[in-house]
Amino acid sequence: MYNKVMESKEFIEKHLKAVPKVGIILGSGLGDLVNVIEDKIYIDYKDIPNFPQSTVKGHAGRLVSGTINGVPVLCMEGRFHFYEGYTMKEVTYPVFVFKMLGIEKILVTNACGGINRDFEPGTLMIINDFINLMGTNPLMGSNDERFGPRFPDMSEPYSKALMVQAKEVADELNVAYKEGVYAGFTGPYYETAAEIRMIGGFGADAVGMSTVPETIIANYLGLEVLGISCITNMATGIQEMKHSHDRVVETAKKASINMCKWVEALVGRM
Ligand code: HPA
Repeated sequence: MYNKVMESKEFIEKHLKAVPKVGIILGSGLGDLVNVIEDKIYIDYKDIPNFPQSTVKGHAGRLVSGTINGVPVLCMEGRFHFYEGYTMKEVTYPVFVFKMLGIEKILVTNACGGINRDFEPGTLMIINDFINLMGTNPLMGSNDERFGPRFPDMSEPYSKALMVQAKEVADELNVAYKEGVYAGFTGPYYETAAEIRMIGGFGADAVGMSTVPETIIANYLGLEVLGISCITNMATGIQEMKHSHDRVVETAKKASINMCKWVEALVGRM
C-alpha cells in the first residue's frame, strides 16, 4: 500500500503549484464549498494512479487544488462511502495520500441526521467526538509503521485547538453553530427508530454514514482534524416525516451558504 500511495502522491504533486496545507473532504450537498477556492486546478480521480473511483451521482469525483484566503488547500469533491462497497482502505485512501503530500490539517464535512433535540434541520454542528458503529475499522490488518502506530491514541479525534478557532470565527461572522458527538453507521438505509433511541442513550448528538473512517486514519497519520456536520433532518423517530435523499441534499445546499462563509474565513487561519 505504501508504494501505491506514493505513486498517487507523485502524480498529484506534478499538477500542484504549492504544497497543500489543509485537506478538505466535502459531504453531500456541500459541494458549493469549492466555489470559495481560488486559482483552481482539477484532477479527476480516474486519472490518478491507484485512486478509487466515484460511483454516487451528485459526487463529482475529482480533487480541487487552489487557495482559500491565501492558504493552499486540496479538496476532495466527492468522497468514498463504505456503503458503496469500497473497502475501508479504499474509503480512507485519499487521507493517506493527503498526508504524504504534506497536508497538516483536515477539514471533514458531512450531511447528517440530528438526534439532540436542540438541533433542527439546517443546524451546523462542530463534531467534538465520534462513535464508530460501522462494525469494522480502517486500521484493521497488518500495520505499516511508516504511516503510524499499531495502537493509535484516539482521545482527541477532533483537534481542540481547531475547534476553538472554528468557534471564534463563527462568533465573528455571526454564524450559529452547535457542538456534539457524531455516530457513524454504515448506511445506506436511514436508521431505525430503535437504533436512534439506542445511540441517543449512548451520547450521540448526530448520526451519519461517513466521516468516522477518515477521522480515524487522519489521527493515525498524525493529522489534526476539524469536523463540521450539517444537520439536514432530524433522525428517525424524532422527525415524523420519512427521510428523502433529495431533501437531505436540498437542506445541505441551503445551509452551505453559511458553511461557505465560515469555512472560507476559518481555513484562512488554519
Ligand atoms: N441518518 C444517516 N445519515 C444521514 C441522515 C440520517 O438521518 N441524514 C443525512 N445523512
